[in-house]
Amino acid sequence: MRAIVFERNGGPEVLECKDQPAPTPKDGEVLVDVEAIGINYRDVYERQGGGYGSEPPAIIGVEGAGTIVDTGERVAWFAVPGSYAEQVAARREMLVPVPDRVSSETAAGALLQGMTAHYLAADSYPISEGDWVLVHAAAGGVGLLLTQIAKARGGRVIATTSTDEKAKLAREAGADEVIGYDGFAERAKEITGGGGVAAVYDGVGKATFDEGLKALRPTGRMILYGAASGQPDPLDLRVLAPAGSLYVQRPTLQTYARTPELLRERAAALFELIESGQLEVRIGARYPLEQARQAHEDLEARKTTGKLLLIP
Ligand SMILES: NC(=O)c1ccc[n+]([C@@H]2O[C@H](COP(=O)([O-])OP(=O)(O)OC[C@H]3O[C@@H](n4cnc5c(N)ncnc54)[C@H](OP(=O)(O)O)[C@@H]3O)[C@@H](O)[C@H]2O)c1
Repeated sequence: MRAIVFERNGGPEVLECKDQPAPTPKDGEVLVDVEAIGINYRDVYERQGGGYGSEPPAIIGVEGAGTIVDTGERVAWFAVPGSYAEQVAARREMLVPVPDRVSSETAAGALLQGMTAHYLAADSYPISEGDWVLVHAAAGGVGLLLTQIAKARGGRVIATTSTDEKAKLAREAGADEVIGYDGFAERAKEITGGGGVAAVYDGVGKATFDEGLKALRPTGRMILYGAASGQPDPLDLRVLAPAGSLYVQRPTLQTYARTPELLRERAAALFELIESGQLEVRIGARYPLEQARQAHEDLEARKTTGKLLLIP
């Protein structure tokens, strides 16, 4: 089978499409034919190294959708190492069933980023009717889904994006106000009548974290869920008191889907939002498997919107 392998950590150039032996399922595992592979920013961190994901040499990636070879069941997954491949071997409990009306592309496009958006809006800060929240990189994979879920919960969304095209997409996803990154905290304060937002959802990190604290209302929540621009500097907790008794969280989906039951419940809730038409999964681009390197280059160059898929 063909797969995307990295033999050392580094830039997109370390990704190579190679023939590999088909995986042999161990006890409790099944073999899956992969139909669509989800690209996520975590794949960039995995490729770069620094303790995230598999150590090279390895097949990169963790997300996809396809069919169990032995049973024909349609399944999706978000945490199976070696997913940039034509086949994966996966533990049964890591796989969730895909409803008939949801395509494999949509399932692979929705699971990781959609469940993330779901826990961010429902658990990290449970958005209530009328709450103002700030969503960074709102035209990205997580961003477009989070904006829609925040609106469905009755929230009001201030979105940041870097281009006019991305601003348009964020507006179409329901954002009430779309702004640039320059001076975003001051703008958020103005938009909220001086009060500040209830939560900042920040997957950008270094470039936005410190300023984000200034956009919050008293007792507001800073939710740092990623670091596309790099890790923020260490935080001196003393700053949180005078800034309004703020909360800070650094969450990961691994916690919110840590048991098979939690995974299945969250995935079912997500697929229900999709099937009922409340959540649109925007596939921003599809790349053939062998173009994984190009996909990573585009993602890191901020050229992409919505979800990126690899098609084996
Ligand atoms: N903690 C979790 O459970 C969890 C789960 C999934 C994803 N994440 C995190 O969520 C974030 C978004 O992931 P994603 O896969 O949906 O990616 P994405 O948002 O589609 O892509 C990243 C976006 O970040 C923005 N950005 C701002 N500064 C950037 C920089 N210096 N370099 C690159 N991008 C920059 C860009 O949008 P603009 O051009 O509009 O700024 C870019 O398009 C990542 O930090 C990821 O690690 C966390």
